[in-house]
Amino acid sequence: MKITYLAHSCFLVETSKARLIIDPFLTGNPLAPVKAADVKVDYILCSHGHEDHTGDALGISKRCDAPIIANYEIAEYFGAQGAKTHGMNPGGAHQFPFGRVKFTIAHHSSSVNAGLNPVYLGNPCGLIIQADGKTIYHAGDTALFLDMQLIGRLSLDLAMVPIGDNFTMGIEDAAAALDLLRPKVAVPMHYNTWPVIAVDAELFVEAAARTDHTVQVLKPGESLNL
Ligand code: NI
Ligand code: MN
Repeated sequence: MKITYLAHSCFLVETSKARLIIDPFLTGNPLAPVKAADVKVDYILCSHGHEDHTGDALGISKRCDAPIIANYEIAEYFGAQGAKTHGMNPGGAHQFPFGRVKFTIAHHSSSVNAGLNPVYLGNPCGLIIQADGKTIYHAGDTALFLDMQLIGRLSLDLAMVPIGDNFTMGIEDAAAALDLLRPKVAVPMHYNTWPVIAVDAELFVEAAARTDHTVQVLKPGESLNL
């Protein structure tokens, strides 16, 4: 399994059977290493409704004829706009041709068009993907929560965790999350895209190392193989 960081919380996951993109936000992302128009995928997964996680979902879905896998409300929202979708919700898993996807809880919010008339799009989620004998967890946007220890029972090969603070866990809580998740390796996400979530990822590496956790910082466009 090959994981490529596409900045913010967006990752390309290449399994032996399919190419997946998680939380596509390339258009308007100052750090994005690729253009949405150049992405070729078989599936799109969205953790929650915010535009910095779904901004390119509809466009990529239609161009690639790729289903959007997301919570029920997001699936209905994009389904009504002509996308193929597969709706799920926390605690639910489904076997797809490439592997198994399970939705987890996350502590955050989930909407689009924030302002006078926000559209609320269900509950925010995290994602567990099992494929090619590997188990990976994308935490979405979330606060630290103790139930992460349940996710940690899965012997995670990789955890993608937000560290940017303000909207999500900051470095201190993300390091504490690793005590619960105990992944073989963690990759930080949701930081440095804008000044309000600017942090030094090396401080996360150091905080995690103090409790014997391995962190790999990926620059936008960089990959790791599991
Ligand atoms: Ni969010
Ligand atoms: Mn976000």
